Amino acid sequence: MDEDSRIADAAEVPDDSTLLFTVRDGFDEREAILTRTAAGEVTAFENYCQHWTDVRLDKGSGATKRDGELVCGKHGALFEDDSGCCTYGPCEGAVLERIAVTVENGGVYLTDDDYEFVQVGSSMEYDLSSNRSLGF
Ligand code: FES
Repeated sequence: MDEDSRIADAAEVPDDSTLLFTVRDGFDEREAILTRTAAGEVTAFENYCQHWTDVRLDKGSGATKRDGELVCGKHGALFEDDSGCCTYGPCEGAVLERIAVTVENGGVYLTDDDYEFVQVGSSMEYDLSSNRSLGF
């Protein structure tokens, strides 16, 4: 596996929250999140709600998870951590944008041809009062 695509140690991926990372899609950078399901599978999604796409699920310190579902802090939508499907809330039935990752030799690797791994954490600056990114 290409070390440039290694996101994190698998042991760093929380089961009760998320690990934020940044990917590049062409010239654009996007935030993504890793989480671990109850079955032990590591999944990754783009870091935005399906209700209002400028709302981040993980604002930098890990998204809230409850009973295997990611919680949007804005209006309370719930997303299954394995499928990304919204089971409750204003965007019920919508699905988080999945990013392909795989676990190998204790590491989590980005395997999605649409993205390049940039870094763990956000590379973007946010105006915390408005929840919007600045300069992008
Ligand atoms: S913005 Fe996420 S539920 Fe409304």
